[in-house]
Amino acid sequence: MDLPIDLPITVRHMELEFPTVEEFDPLWMGDPTRSYFITGLSLYLPYLEPFLIKALRKASPLVTDPTVAETLDKFCRQEAQHYKQHEKFNAVVHARDYPGLAEIEARCAAEFQHFLQDKPLKYSVGFVEGFESYTTQGAAAMLNGGMYDDPSVDQKIADLLRWHMTEEIEHRTVAFDIYQHLYGDYLYRVKMCWIAQWHVFRFIWKTATLMSRIDTLRYGPRYRMKRSMKVLALAAAFAQFVVTYLPNYSPHKLKISPRIGELAQRYSERAVSIG
Ligand SMILES: [Fe+2]
Ligand SMILES: [Fe+2]
Repeated sequence: MDLPIDLPITVRHMELEFPTVEEFDPLWMGDPTRSYFITGLSLYLPYLEPFLIKALRKASPLVTDPTVAETLDKFCRQEAQHYKQHEKFNAVVHARDYPGLAEIEARCAAEFQHFLQDKPLKYSVGFVEGFESYTTQGAAAMLNGGMYDDPSVDQKIADLLRWHMTEEIEHRTVAFDIYQHLYGDYLYRVKMCWIAQWHVFRFIWKTATLMSRIDTLRYGPRYRMKRSMKVLALAAAFAQFVVTYLPNYSPHKLKISPRIGELAQRYSERAVSIG
Protein backbone atom coordinates (compact mmCIF):
# COMPACT_ATOMS: atom_id res chain seq x y z
CA MET A 1 0.00 0.00 0.00
CA ASP A 2 1.31 3.48 -0.88
CA LEU A 3 1.94 5.65 2.15
CA PRO A 4 0.45 9.16 1.98
CA ILE A 5 3.07 11.69 0.92
CA ASP A 6 3.63 14.60 3.27
CA LEU A 7 3.92 17.75 1.20
CA PRO A 8 4.28 20.81 3.45
CA ILE A 9 4.08 24.31 1.99
CA THR A 10 7.73 25.29 1.65
CA VAL A 11 8.69 28.85 0.69
CA ARG A 12 11.81 28.34 -1.42
CA HIS A 13 14.01 31.11 -2.73
CA MET A 14 15.40 29.80 -5.98
CA GLU A 15 18.18 30.82 -8.28
CA LEU A 16 17.02 29.55 -11.64
CA GLU A 17 18.77 29.78 -14.98
CA PHE A 18 17.03 31.25 -18.01
CA PRO A 19 17.89 31.09 -21.69
CA THR A 20 19.46 34.25 -23.08
CA VAL A 21 17.55 36.28 -25.64
CA GLU A 22 19.74 34.72 -28.36
CA GLU A 23 19.26 31.17 -27.07
CA PHE A 24 15.49 31.43 -26.63
CA ASP A 25 13.42 29.60 -29.23
CA PRO A 26 9.68 30.42 -29.02
CA LEU A 27 9.12 26.72 -29.83
CA TRP A 28 10.86 25.78 -26.60
CA MET A 29 8.56 22.78 -26.06
CA GLY A 30 8.85 21.60 -29.65
CA ASP A 31 5.15 21.77 -30.49
CA PRO A 32 3.93 25.34 -31.24
CA THR A 33 0.62 25.08 -29.35
CA ARG A 34 2.21 23.79 -26.15
CA SER A 35 5.08 26.28 -26.37
CA TYR A 36 2.96 29.38 -26.99
CA PHE A 37 0.25 28.36 -24.52
CA ILE A 38 2.72 27.88 -21.66
CA THR A 39 4.54 31.09 -22.61
CA GLY A 40 1.11 32.81 -22.57
CA LEU A 41 0.51 31.44 -19.08
CA SER A 42 3.89 32.78 -17.95
CA LEU A 43 3.00 36.24 -19.31
CA TYR A 44 -0.24 36.18 -17.29
CA LEU A 45 1.37 35.40 -13.93
CA PRO A 46 2.97 38.78 -13.06
CA TYR A 47 -0.57 40.25 -13.27
CA LEU A 48 -2.43 37.38 -11.63
CA GLU A 49 -0.13 36.43 -8.76
CA PRO A 50 0.18 39.94 -7.21
CA PHE A 51 -3.64 40.02 -7.40
CA LEU A 52 -3.88 36.67 -5.55
CA ILE A 53 -1.62 38.03 -2.82
CA LYS A 54 -3.43 41.36 -2.46
CA ALA A 55 -6.85 39.68 -2.39
CA LEU A 56 -5.88 37.17 0.29
CA ARG A 57 -3.96 39.72 2.38
CA LYS A 58 -7.14 41.85 2.30
CA ALA A 59 -9.15 38.84 3.49
CA SER A 60 -6.59 37.93 6.14
CA PRO A 61 -8.10 40.00 9.05
CA LEU A 62 -11.37 38.07 8.61
CA VAL A 63 -9.72 34.67 9.03
CA THR A 64 -10.26 33.39 12.57
CA ASP A 65 -8.80 29.90 12.17
CA PRO A 66 -5.04 29.98 13.03
CA THR A 67 -4.21 27.06 10.71
CA VAL A 68 -5.94 28.76 7.77
CA ALA A 69 -4.19 32.04 8.66
CA GLU A 70 -0.78 30.35 8.68
CA THR A 71 -1.29 28.69 5.31
CA LEU A 72 -2.58 32.00 3.88
CA ASP A 73 0.72 33.61 4.77
CA LYS A 74 2.79 30.80 3.24
CA PHE A 75 0.62 30.82 0.10
CA CYS A 76 1.29 34.54 -0.39
CA ARG A 77 5.01 34.13 0.13
CA GLN A 78 5.21 31.26 -2.38
CA GLU A 79 3.23 33.20 -4.99
CA ALA A 80 5.53 36.22 -4.52
CA GLN A 81 8.49 34.05 -5.50
CA HIS A 82 6.68 32.61 -8.52
CA TYR A 83 5.91 35.77 -10.42
CA LYS A 84 9.36 37.25 -9.75
CA GLN A 85 10.94 34.27 -11.50
CA HIS A 86 8.40 34.37 -14.33
CA GLU A 87 9.20 38.03 -14.89
CA LYS A 88 12.78 36.99 -15.70
CA PHE A 89 11.59 34.52 -18.34
CA ASN A 90 9.01 37.00 -19.64
CA ALA A 91 11.76 39.59 -20.19
CA VAL A 92 13.38 37.13 -22.62
CA VAL A 93 10.03 36.69 -24.41
CA HIS A 94 9.40 40.44 -24.56
CA ALA A 95 12.85 40.98 -26.09
CA ARG A 96 11.46 39.27 -29.23
CA ASP A 97 9.18 42.27 -29.64
CA TYR A 98 5.61 41.19 -30.34
CA PRO A 99 3.55 44.23 -31.45
CA GLY A 100 0.15 44.13 -29.72
CA LEU A 101 1.30 42.11 -26.71
CA ALA A 102 1.77 45.15 -24.45
CA GLU A 103 -1.85 46.22 -25.08
CA ILE A 104 -3.23 42.78 -24.08
CA GLU A 105 -1.09 42.83 -20.94
CA ALA A 106 -2.13 46.40 -20.06
CA ARG A 107 -5.82 45.41 -20.33
CA CYS A 108 -5.18 42.43 -18.04
CA ALA A 109 -3.43 44.64 -15.45
CA ALA A 110 -6.36 47.09 -15.53
CA GLU A 111 -8.87 44.26 -15.04
CA PHE A 112 -7.13 42.99 -11.90
CA GLN A 113 -6.95 46.54 -10.59
CA HIS A 114 -10.69 46.89 -11.21
CA PHE A 115 -11.46 43.61 -9.38
CA LEU A 116 -9.58 44.77 -6.29
CA GLN A 117 -10.96 48.30 -6.26
CA ASP A 118 -14.56 47.88 -7.38
CA LYS A 119 -15.67 44.32 -6.65
CA PRO A 120 -16.61 42.87 -3.26
CA LEU A 121 -13.94 40.90 -1.44
CA LYS A 122 -15.98 37.72 -1.95
CA TYR A 123 -15.49 38.17 -5.71
CA SER A 124 -11.71 38.43 -5.38
CA VAL A 125 -11.39 35.52 -2.94
CA GLY A 126 -13.69 33.48 -5.19
CA PHE A 127 -11.52 34.39 -8.19
CA VAL A 128 -8.40 33.23 -6.33
CA GLU A 129 -10.06 29.91 -5.53
CA GLY A 130 -11.36 29.56 -9.10
CA PHE A 131 -7.89 30.02 -10.49
CA GLU A 132 -6.16 27.84 -7.91
CA SER A 133 -8.56 24.92 -8.38
CA TYR A 134 -7.75 24.93 -12.11
CA THR A 135 -4.01 25.27 -11.44
CA THR A 136 -4.17 22.22 -9.19
CA GLN A 137 -5.64 20.14 -12.02
CA GLY A 138 -3.18 21.51 -14.55
CA ALA A 139 -0.13 21.18 -12.29
CA ALA A 140 -0.92 17.56 -11.39
CA ALA A 141 -1.44 16.69 -15.08
CA MET A 142 1.78 18.44 -16.16
CA LEU A 143 3.98 16.92 -13.44
CA ASN A 144 2.54 13.41 -13.48
CA GLY A 145 2.50 13.34 -17.30
CA GLY A 146 6.17 14.36 -17.39
CA MET A 147 5.59 16.89 -20.18
CA TYR A 148 8.64 18.95 -19.17
CA ASP A 149 11.01 15.99 -18.97
CA ASP A 150 11.46 15.31 -22.67
CA PRO A 151 15.04 16.24 -23.65
CA SER A 152 13.70 18.18 -26.67
CA VAL A 153 12.11 20.67 -24.23
CA ASP A 154 14.29 23.64 -23.18
CA GLN A 155 15.30 22.42 -19.73
CA LYS A 156 15.91 25.89 -18.29
CA ILE A 157 12.30 26.93 -18.89
CA ALA A 158 11.07 23.46 -17.92
CA ASP A 159 12.83 23.89 -14.59
CA LEU A 160 10.91 27.11 -13.89
CA LEU A 161 7.59 25.39 -14.61
CA ARG A 162 8.41 22.19 -12.68
CA TRP A 163 9.37 24.16 -9.58
CA HIS A 164 6.36 26.44 -9.85
CA MET A 165 3.87 23.61 -10.46
CA THR A 166 5.31 21.62 -7.54
CA GLU A 167 4.62 24.53 -5.21
CA GLU A 168 1.14 24.94 -6.70
CA ILE A 169 0.45 21.36 -5.58
CA GLU A 170 1.89 22.14 -2.15
CA HIS A 171 -0.53 25.03 -1.57
CA ARG A 172 -3.48 23.49 -3.48
CA THR A 173 -5.89 23.55 -0.48
CA VAL A 174 -5.22 27.08 0.79
CA ALA A 175 -7.57 29.18 -1.35
CA PHE A 176 -10.29 26.52 -1.10
CA ASP A 177 -10.06 26.47 2.70
CA ILE A 178 -10.10 30.28 2.92
CA TYR A 179 -13.13 30.49 0.64
CA GLN A 180 -14.96 27.78 2.61
CA HIS A 181 -14.00 29.38 5.92
CA LEU A 182 -15.23 32.84 4.91
CA TYR A 183 -18.15 32.14 2.57
CA GLY A 184 -18.77 28.46 1.77
CA ASP A 185 -21.25 29.52 -0.90
CA TYR A 186 -21.15 26.70 -3.46
CA LEU A 187 -22.99 28.33 -6.37
CA TYR A 188 -21.00 31.55 -6.08
CA ARG A 189 -17.80 29.47 -6.03
CA VAL A 190 -18.82 27.76 -9.29
CA LYS A 191 -19.55 31.17 -10.85
CA MET A 192 -16.12 32.44 -9.80
CA CYS A 193 -14.40 29.27 -11.08
CA TRP A 194 -16.03 29.94 -14.44
CA ILE A 195 -15.01 33.62 -14.47
CA ALA A 196 -11.41 33.05 -13.29
CA GLN A 197 -10.74 30.05 -15.50
CA TRP A 198 -11.99 31.70 -18.69
CA HIS A 199 -10.09 34.85 -17.75
CA VAL A 200 -6.76 33.02 -17.83
CA PHE A 201 -7.73 30.88 -20.81
CA ARG A 202 -8.77 33.90 -22.89
CA PHE A 203 -5.47 35.65 -22.09
CA ILE A 204 -3.45 32.56 -23.04
CA TRP A 205 -5.44 32.06 -26.23
CA LYS A 206 -5.02 35.69 -27.33
CA THR A 207 -1.32 36.00 -26.51
CA ALA A 208 -0.45 32.57 -27.96
CA THR A 209 -2.33 33.34 -31.18
CA LEU A 210 -0.60 36.71 -31.52
CA MET A 211 2.93 35.39 -30.88
CA SER A 212 2.44 32.43 -33.22
CA ARG A 213 1.07 34.66 -36.00
CA ILE A 214 4.01 37.07 -35.74
CA ASP A 215 6.63 34.30 -35.55
CA THR A 216 5.05 32.49 -38.52
CA LEU A 217 5.50 35.66 -40.58
CA ARG A 218 9.05 36.13 -39.29
CA TYR A 219 10.41 32.59 -39.23
CA GLY A 220 8.08 30.40 -41.30
CA PRO A 221 5.19 27.91 -41.03
CA ARG A 222 6.86 25.75 -38.35
CA TYR A 223 5.69 28.39 -35.84
CA ARG A 224 2.00 28.13 -36.77
CA MET A 225 -0.29 26.54 -34.19
CA LYS A 226 -2.49 23.90 -35.80
CA ARG A 227 -6.21 24.57 -35.36
CA SER A 228 -6.74 20.94 -34.27
CA MET A 229 -4.13 21.32 -31.50
CA LYS A 230 -5.77 24.54 -30.29
CA VAL A 231 -9.15 22.80 -30.14
CA LEU A 232 -7.55 19.92 -28.22
CA ALA A 233 -6.02 22.38 -25.74
CA LEU A 234 -9.44 24.00 -25.29
CA ALA A 235 -11.10 20.61 -24.72
CA ALA A 236 -8.42 19.57 -22.19
CA ALA A 237 -8.78 22.86 -20.29
CA PHE A 238 -12.57 22.57 -20.28
CA ALA A 239 -12.37 19.02 -18.90
CA GLN A 240 -10.20 20.36 -16.06
CA PHE A 241 -12.61 23.25 -15.43
CA VAL A 242 -15.59 20.90 -15.07
CA VAL A 243 -13.90 18.86 -12.33
CA THR A 244 -13.75 21.98 -10.15
CA TYR A 245 -17.50 22.70 -10.52
CA LEU A 246 -18.64 19.41 -9.02
CA PRO A 247 -20.35 19.70 -5.60
CA ASN A 248 -17.99 17.15 -4.07
CA TYR A 249 -14.83 18.82 -5.47
CA SER A 250 -12.10 19.27 -2.90
CA PRO A 251 -8.35 19.75 -3.44
CA HIS A 252 -7.89 17.75 -0.22
CA LYS A 253 -8.81 14.64 -2.20
CA LEU A 254 -5.95 14.97 -4.69
CA LYS A 255 -3.61 12.00 -4.52
CA ILE A 256 0.01 13.14 -4.47
CA SER A 257 2.20 10.93 -6.63
CA PRO A 258 5.69 9.92 -5.45
CA ARG A 259 7.00 11.85 -8.47
CA ILE A 260 5.68 15.14 -7.04
CA GLY A 261 7.06 14.25 -3.61
CA GLU A 262 10.50 13.72 -5.19
CA LEU A 263 10.32 17.05 -7.03
CA ALA A 264 9.45 18.89 -3.79
CA GLN A 265 12.44 17.27 -2.11
CA ARG A 266 14.74 18.06 -5.02
CA TYR A 267 13.72 21.74 -5.13
CA SER A 268 14.12 22.09 -1.36
CA GLU A 269 17.68 20.83 -1.72
CA ARG A 270 18.37 23.30 -4.53
CA ALA A 271 16.78 26.33 -2.82
CA VAL A 272 19.16 29.17 -1.96
CA SER A 273 17.15 29.66 1.22
CA ILE A 274 13.86 28.51 2.68
CA GLY A 275 11.29 30.54 4.60
FE1 LIG B 1 2.04 30.43 -8.38
FE1 LIG C 1 -1.07 29.16 -6.61
